[in-house]
Amino acid sequence: MLIARDAHLLDVDSLSRSDMAELLEVAERHRNRIDAGDVKSSVLYGKSVYTVFFEDSTRTRVSFEQAGKWLGADVINISASTSSVNKGESLLNTTKTLNAIGADLLVIRHPHSGAPHFVSRHSLAAVINAGDGTHAHPTQALLDVMTLQQRLGQLEGRLVAVIGDVAHSRVARSTIIALGTMGARVAVAGPPTLLPSDWLTSRDAGPRPESPFGHVQVCESVEDAISGADALMALRLQRERQTSGLLPDLGEYSRMWGVNSARLELAKQYAPLMHPGPMNEGIEVTSEVAHGSRSVVTDQVANGVAMRMAVLERYCRAERML
Ligand code: NCD
Repeated sequence: MLIARDAHLLDVDSLSRSDMAELLEVAERHRNRIDAGDVKSSVLYGKSVYTVFFEDSTRTRVSFEQAGKWLGADVINISASTSSVNKGESLLNTTKTLNAIGADLLVIRHPHSGAPHFVSRHSLAAVINAGDGTHAHPTQALLDVMTLQQRLGQLEGRLVAVIGDVAHSRVARSTIIALGTMGARVAVAGPPTLLPSDWLTSRDAGPRPESPFGHVQVCESVEDAISGADALMALRLQRERQTSGLLPDLGEYSRMWGVNSARLELAKQYAPLMHPGPMNEGIEVTSEVAHGSRSVVTDQVANGVAMRMAVLERYCRAERML
């Protein structure tokens, strides 16, 4: 390990409530400057931020790039399809190459859970996980918490319903941990084949206070999870990560687990609806709800740029140790 472990952002479990509060405060300041049209600074002038994406992305990659540019950093985008990864270069050799070129910070997305951890062990640069397999997506979790705080204030004791394909969602896993850190409770619902048996409390076991998921209640139906919730998060059905046989029929999935207007009515009347995007409209969420007055999906995207500015600032400060 060449730089201290907390010099990297690999998942939200490395962040305490006060770490998160600090990032949220800085991100709010950035958001206000963005809204006022006065955001450009030279805080990261001379720093090189590399986005290294081995998987598709629109909002995450572009918002990191926008965030870096607004802070004055040089931002260089690398995608697997146009790099030497396509010629068979290993992740280790790619990391060594980026060390030699002189990256200060690597933003990595990879289809394999744990890839950013591996890179962090060999990197001279700080590593930010921008989504690894089904494991973690810490900056999405932070921007979700930011969006909820803007609508609900402090999250202590609030109930957030998380609906859908939890098993394949790195967003669900990281956002659920972050909500627990901020004192919120979570109600989860989804088809049993799309609930993770490895990290989520089993239906029969009840909440386990010692785990980072002790604040999570698994519900039998989408109605149970949404009833009385202060906020909702619908998840994309991640068909590219599913093995065959997990879902009999898309129509049935959306009838049983989709978020529609009638189901939204079961939540508190002020409850915002989040979705990390990209949305499969008509499957996990109806178009009416996705674009309705309770939807905060575009706010999540705007907050994403502000939060990534806060994250880049904090992690670019990490000292190189060689
Ligand atoms: C998510 C991701 O890639 O994990 N998208 C995002 O970053 N906003 C969610 C998804 O792909 O469903």
